[in-house]
Amino acid sequence: MKIEGKTALVSGGASGLGEAAARMLAAKGAQVVIIDLNEEAGAVIARELGAKVAFCKADITAADQVQAAVDLAQQQYGQIDIAINCAGIAPGAKLVSKKGPHDLGLFRKTLEVNVVGPFNVMRLAAAKMIENKLNDEGGRGVMINTASIAAVDGQVGQTAYAASKAALVGMTLPVARDLSEMGIRICTIAPGLYWTPMMASLAENIQEALGKMVPFPSRLGKPEEFALLAEQIIENPMLNGETIRLDGALRLAPK
Ligand SMILES: NC(=O)c1ccc[n+]([C@@H]2O[C@H](COP(=O)([O-])OP(=O)(O)OC[C@H]3O[C@@H](n4cnc5c(N)ncnc54)[C@H](O)[C@@H]3O)[C@@H](O)[C@H]2O)c1
Repeated sequence: MKIEGKTALVSGGASGLGEAAARMLAAKGAQVVIIDLNEEAGAVIARELGAKVAFCKADITAADQVQAAVDLAQQQYGQIDIAINCAGIAPGAKLVSKKGPHDLGLFRKTLEVNVVGPFNVMRLAAAKMIENKLNDEGGRGVMINTASIAAVDGQVGQTAYAASKAALVGMTLPVARDLSEMGIRICTIAPGLYWTPMMASLAENIQEALGKMVPFPSRLGKPEEFALLAEQIIENPMLNGETIRLDGALRLAPK
């Protein structure tokens, strides 16, 4: 599907990988609605990217707030062709530690934001996409979720995060099958280690050590490299129902 002239929703578009995806889409001539909790950063990015980019403060786990973002895209740009889910959280906690058992609320919250949230965006975006006339590839839209290589290589302290990302991997094929007769494709990107604000909270020596773990290129990934794969997924009509690792051949060690 050609990106130019299409309309995209990007959750988590106020930071990191989502921001890079929003920038790529705007540069390729799409209209973009950024959905994020971070109003300040989201509004600054939307202003910088110009009249075709809007910001909508929304919690992806809230049905009414995501519906409001979908309605905004409809009102301002007429339809939705692309939905990219990048919003997510990455808490760390062991199943049992000196502090006691893993906090149940933290486990639930991780699944709520990382699984229920993208599911909520997908269901509401797809419900709008099915109203589209057939596009240049004979379809109606493309969706992308962001998992992690932790979905299969989860490290110490990543039980909740890995479970949430594995759920996104598990949803990819059935969603592609559900939506095939409507002409909507979906792929999931499983990034390795990327240089984003999520990473910036770690000490510099730890960031450097993490980069060296990547076989080649031996560094943290750049958000633009994530956006490049998103671009290819949107443009290549045969990409559907698959999770693609984007990790420089990294396989995470236990810790
Ligand atoms: N950075 C990495 O190395 C890496 C690796 C693998 C997977 N990922 C995944 O990629 C995605 C993006 O990561 P990032 O590094 O860009 O993170 P980030 O923290 O820079 O950005 C995440 C954005 O999501 C927003 N957000 C969080 N909860 C939200 C909610 N409930 N509703 C709306 N917005 C919400 C935050 O405000 C933030 O702007 C995440 O799902 C993360 O798990 C990142």
